[in-house]
Amino acid sequence: MPKIQLLSEDLINKIAAGEVIERPASVVKELMENSLDAKATSIIIEIENYGKDLISVRDNGEGMDETDARNSMVRHATSKIKDVQDLFSIHTLGFRGEALASIAAVSTMSITTKQQGRMEGFQITMEAGRIIQEGIIGAEEGTTIQIKNLFFNTPARKKFLKTDSVELRHIIDVIQRYALINHQVSFRLLHQGNELINSPSMADLRSKVASIYGIKAAKEMLGVQYDHEGIRIYGLVGKPSQSRNDKSQQAIFVNKRWIKNEDISTAVYDAYHSLLFVNTHPLLVLGLELDPARIDVNVHPTKSEIKIEQKEAVVNAVFTAIKEALQSHNLTPTVEMEEQLTFGTPRRTLPKTGIKYAFDSSAQAVFTVNESSSGSEYASAEEVSIAPEQGFPEDIPATVAFPALKILGQVHKTFFVAETAGGVFFIDQHAAHERLLFETLKRQFAGKKIARQALLFPKVLECTLEEIQILRQYAEEIAALGVEIEDFGGASQVVKAVPAVLGRSSVEEVMAGIFARFGEPGSGRGGVRAEEVLSDMACKAAIRAGQSLSPKEAQALLDEMQRAEVFSHCPHGRPVAKSFTPHEIKKWFYRG
Ligand SMILES: Nc1ncnc2c1ncn2[C@@H]1O[C@H](COP(=O)(O)OP(=O)(O)OP(=O)(O)O)[C@@H](O)[C@H]1O
Ligand SMILES: [Mg+2]
Repeated sequence: MPKIQLLSEDLINKIAAGEVIERPASVVKELMENSLDAKATSIIIEIENYGKDLISVRDNGEGMDETDARNSMVRHATSKIKDVQDLFSIHTLGFRGEALASIAAVSTMSITTKQQGRMEGFQITMEAGRIIQEGIIGAEEGTTIQIKNLFFNTPARKKFLKTDSVELRHIIDVIQRYALINHQVSFRLLHQGNELINSPSMADLRSKVASIYGIKAAKEMLGVQYDHEGIRIYGLVGKPSQSRNDKSQQAIFVNKRWIKNEDISTAVYDAYHSLLFVNTHPLLVLGLELDPARIDVNVHPTKSEIKIEQKEAVVNAVFTAIKEALQSHNLTPTVEMEEQLTFGTPRRTLPKTGIKYAFDSSAQAVFTVNESSSGSEYASAEEVSIAPEQGFPEDIPATVAFPALKILGQVHKTFFVAETAGGVFFIDQHAAHERLLFETLKRQFAGKKIARQALLFPKVLECTLEEIQILRQYAEEIAALGVEIEDFGGASQVVKAVPAVLGRSSVEEVMAGIFARFGEPGSGRGGVRAEEVLSDMACKAAIRAGQSLSPKEAQALLDEMQRAEVFSHCPHGRPVAKSFTPHEIKKWFYRG
């Protein structure tokens, strides 16, 4: 007796629904995508009981006629592709013709729709995939789709839903992401009548980001622009100082589709390499425009994964685009150029109490500056901070270098304090020195000129098979790092020379660092692995916290920072400097 059965349409739809519709947020995503494909400029999402009782998505898009409305809920029915050719050149968010059928199979769904210019609209209601009511109805132009009792007939799926707040978070996330990349479309989310998202149509991406991530974040984020050989990249990326402990404010889109792609994400992190502190994540709204014929979006039913033809070119473009954005901006945290530019203009932000504090400049205890570092005598803090004629440039370019600073002293043998007309800086001596050494080593590495030091007594290392494999695979990079190694056969490797900047590390430590860094999985683009070894070397060789510095040494470090290209963070992502503007300092003391 044959055992193979042909499954019923109902069961097929339920199986498909299992893949596409995982949770209420998946319904919201599919319906919004349909609205965007229908060229809507306004999308209003209303939910009740975290989406479990009702999800309604209303748009002002092109609508459907009666026949299309009926067919829209049939599985494998779509207006978006016609033949195989179309499948390999997708220009819309949907194309599989299964979202509505899948949702209808596990809910009660009604569609109310009216095409533009038509007198009447059409409404159709289905329960578990069967039509229970349909007819002509008065309606606004566009489409409203209502889903009630989601998963009522698939109790297992209902049981696996997370807590209400997690499900709501997913809904908010997916709406925010689509709102970000469609800045000209207005999005609203209402939960039990309370407005949770109101993101109006905006003229540009930055304004849209402001409506979602907040004005301050949007203002600080750096613009990305890249257009080369058919790859266009645009968007906004956060400064390292804006990084977060999670990835919730990261959104990457390919042809306006929100996607997850490991290769693109790795390229992003590689571009931030040495600017992020461990386990922190940059803010991102990144759009890629690629030729639809060069990507395959038909990888997974949720359409959030893609395969990219010529992946290397795309990831390199992402890497370059972000790197350029980061390099062309001043990344020092809290150095507000705006503050500096408006500096000298008296501000009155505090309520006037009528009390005037007498300020005796002669009685101010300014840090004593060692005679060796002070050519010119410093005026009192008050005079310094309000005199606009302190030589402040009228126009500070965006790529401004570290400002010229005057050293005031060292605190806790860890930080030094310096000042400029724009404010007071606290500088982490270890982080600053580490960054400078790292930049020098990187330059030397690029030119294959890392100074090496021959060992008086070459060191024999017994290596594991993996370590020998690393030495062979990365022989060139390891040599460029300043390590000279000879293979003695078997497990024995003889280290004959090591980088001159060894700092406090032993030969074994340097080699262990090399094995650890090169053994890590990762892309290795832009010599990222070698850079990690260099950053370890810089860390070991840099001035430590707790080390006394003479003002002369501190000033020399500052002078070097001024000449450096990257100075905002140590190679492990810790900030080098923190500044306080005169305005902020005055606020501490209620001086308006
Ligand atoms: N909001 C809408 N406005 C106008 N037409 C719509 C709307 N929603 C759905 N449609 C029509 O219904 C069809 C079926 O929608 P459905 O989401 O099931 O499939 P799809 O979008 O074509 O593909 P996918 O399954 O990948 O989403 C669409 O191709 C479209 O023609
Ligand atoms: Mg669709």
